[in-house]
Order: sequence, then structure tokens, then C-alpha cells
Amino acid sequence: MSYVTAVLMWFHILGAIGWLGAAMFFGMIIGPLLPGLSPATRAELMIKLVPRFTRYVAGFAIATPVFGVALVFAIAGGDLSILSPSNPFGLFISAGAAVTIAAMTLAFVVVLPTANKIVGITKNMQQNPGPPPPELPAVQKRLRIGATTVMVLLLIVLAFMVAAGNI
Ligand code: HEM
Repeated sequence: MSYVTAVLMWFHILGAIGWLGAAMFFGMIIGPLLPGLSPATRAELMIKLVPRFTRYVAGFAIATPVFGVALVFAIAGGDLSILSPSNPFGLFISAGAAVTIAAMTLAFVVVLPTANKIVGITKNMQQNPGPPPPELPAVQKRLRIGATTVMVLLLIVLAFMVAAGNI
């Protein structure tokens, strides 16, 4: 493995740890913790955590495939036929990239905007106390299902990547 490939691999795996780690932390720890908090604590946590969290996730969700694609070019050395699904390496990397695109689309189109929407609703409720808006449970459910699906998709990508790395 050349130095360039090793450095790209380091950044790619760092991105993967940042993105999948954040998805697992939210899906397995923060998400299940929220319903047990008092409304005031939950509101403060959402308002302070979510904007930082969404910026952090967005950065790693972009860095991971960018370094992944750079890694493909470095490994291929100009011969992109290694990506052909007719060989196991090409099949695993192509399948992993396709599932990554699905995870990114879901993250950027559904999960991150929904999380920011909940922050907006929460701030509104703090400024205008009263019963929560009727749309809130549906928005919370969308966030829970969307975030869990992204996490599962990334775990599938991880399996494809490890399979490709062991050929
Ligand atoms: C467009 C998306 C992606 C592309 C093109 C891509 C490409 C690659 C390539 C070419 C390798 C090197 C395989 C080898 O060692 O020969 C690799 C390794 C790896 N990728 Fe990705 N990747 C992508 C997305 C992801 C994502 C989303 C994750 C995290 C869930 C991830 C996690 C990993 C890991 C952990 C390795 C090291 C595997 C090993 O050496 O056993 N990749 N990736």
C-alpha cells in the first residue's frame, strides 16, 4: 500500500468512525434517553445538542464518501475496471457506495432537517408555553425511524467495506 493510499484510508476510516459513531450514539443512547427526561431538560438538551450534532454529522457524512472515492482512485491507479461488479472487490465497494448514497440521501433530506425542525418547535414552545403542537409526535417519530434506518444502512456499508478489505 502506498503512502497516499494509507493516508486516504486513515481519513476515510476516521470519517466512517465519526459518522457511524454519531449515528450509533444518537440511535442507542440519546434517542432512548429523551422520553425519560423532564420536558425542560429535554428542551434544553435538544436546543444545545442538535445544532452542533447536525453540523458534526454533516461534516463526517461528506468526508467519508469523498475520501472513499479518492481511495478508489488511489487503489485503482487509473484502472477503474477494479470497480466492475464482476469481481468481488468491485462488487463490495460498488454495493457499499450505493448503500452510502441511500444513507446520505436519507440523512440530508429527512433526518437532519427533521432534527432542526424539532429544535425550532422546541424553541417556539419555550417562548409560547402551552400544549405541544399536534404535529410534534409525527415529527419525532420521523426522526426516530429515519435516524435508526441511517444507522442500519451504515452498518451494512461497514460489512461491505470490511469484506472488500479482506479480499
Ligand atoms: C462512496 C462511498 C464509499 C466508497 C467509495 C468507499 C471506498 C472504500 C475503499 C476503496 C476502501 C478500501 C478497501 C480495501 O482495503 O481494499 C474502503 C475501506 C473502508 N471503508 Fe469505505 N467507502 C465508502 C463508504 C464508506 C462508509 C459509509 C463507511 C462506514 C460505514 C466506510 C467504512 C470503511 C472501512 C471501515 C474501511 C476499511 C475496511 C478494511 O480495511 O477492512 N466506507 N472504503
